Amino acid sequence: MSRSDELFERAKRTIPGGVNSPVRAFNAVGGTPRFIESARGAYLTDVDGNEYVDLICSWGPMLLGHAHPEVQREVAAAVARGTSYGTPTVPEVELAEEIVARAPVERVRFVSSGTEATMSAIRLARGATGRDVVVKFAGCYHGHVDPLLASAGSGLATFAVPGTPGVPESSTALTLVLPYNDRAAVDKVFTDHGDRIACLITEAAPGNMGVVPPDAGFNGFLAATCAAHGALFVSDEVMTGFRAGRQGQWGLDGAVEGWRPDLMTFGKVMGGGFPAAAFGGRAELMALLSPEGPVYQAGTLSGNPVATTAGLATLRLATDDVYAHLTAAGDTIKAATTAALSAAGVPHVIQSAGTMFSVFLTEGPVRDFDDASRTDLTAYAAFFHAMLEAGVYLPPSAYEAWFLSSAHDDRAVQTVLDALPGAARAAAAAPAGEDRR
Ligand SMILES: Cc1ncc(COP(=O)(O)O)c(C=O)c1O
Repeated sequence: MSRSDELFERAKRTIPGGVNSPVRAFNAVGGTPRFIESARGAYLTDVDGNEYVDLICSWGPMLLGHAHPEVQREVAAAVARGTSYGTPTVPEVELAEEIVARAPVERVRFVSSGTEATMSAIRLARGATGRDVVVKFAGCYHGHVDPLLASAGSGLATFAVPGTPGVPESSTALTLVLPYNDRAAVDKVFTDHGDRIACLITEAAPGNMGVVPPDAGFNGFLAATCAAHGALFVSDEVMTGFRAGRQGQWGLDGAVEGWRPDLMTFGKVMGGGFPAAAFGGRAELMALLSPEGPVYQAGTLSGNPVATTAGLATLRLATDDVYAHLTAAGDTIKAATTAALSAAGVPHVIQSAGTMFSVFLTEGPVRDFDDASRTDLTAYAAFFHAMLEAGVYLPPSAYEAWFLSSAHDDRAVQTVLDALPGAARAAAAAPAGEDRR
């Protein structure tokens, strides 16, 4: 028994499933999650002393790799000054200025998780419009916010049903769930319910059903449709923000096409590996938040000085060179993955949004959640475990992006390339495919 096996058994006695966020438990791929003891640059080291090239990067935040010396220095200095005061601080103002300089928002409010960011953005949208209905897309994840843990109802324009026990029907009774990239479905719900819709929320480029890029012009169409009906367009960039590119996904479409979301949400990279997230938008909308306005929102640790220091250090170091590096390393890995899977005869498609990408083990293209659900889970599990054996820690789920960092140098990339052919053969040898439909 490895130490990870022992720890997993021990953890399960006091923590449900042995983990504090479900995907970490390896349920989708089987086996035991590795307990990580330390991380540096592109590498994770587990409690048994095994080293892995990390393609999870904490599910997105670690844009600069682990334990970046400059971020560490800033964080250590912040910790030495005390870790939380519950008063305004300088780093939170500087981080707000840095975000406003990069993203199309005039003001931001900090929170501690992406879930809080989307939850608060929706409250603000409802407060601003005086309306109650929220539109989202199937396969887009916005955190575990009750009204967003919703599945489509029986017809396109019918209200949603709870996506998990514990969410009351009343919480999803004001949510409409649509297929992604489907303009006709969007038109229909706005025709049927337009005067009740407070906001439409979407991942700026979905990464939580694997990477499913918006069709050309789709986000702009959503922004225009919302505007035409007096609803707010909420672009969730918790994953893509400062990750898909320097200005997130918006830099790849909105900045080019000339539109802005009404509200945006951020997390992951902007916290530099600490619990920090934010929502933001036009000054007059953000002015509706308490204490300036009537919409209540608060948090004991919001804008925490250590977290905002880490985020600020990370964003200041996230120069164009970082994104160029992610693009180049990603291109190399994508090409080698396609070559290996093709040589082994495994159907697949690789999709990207800026520097983010994911590998679907299904014939493409994947344009929505239904397409994504065709991915071969058995083949992915075999692929995942072969990569892990060869020293590469992929996301333990077939529906996640593979994350890189500026610390993924030639040696780390080469380890991935060396592991791919064997993993592709393992995927090909997996028993007949199973998908999750
Ligand atoms: C797009 C998106 N929004 C919101 C969230 C929720 O963020 P958190 O896990 O910090 O609550 C996530 C988390 O993965 C996400 O990817």
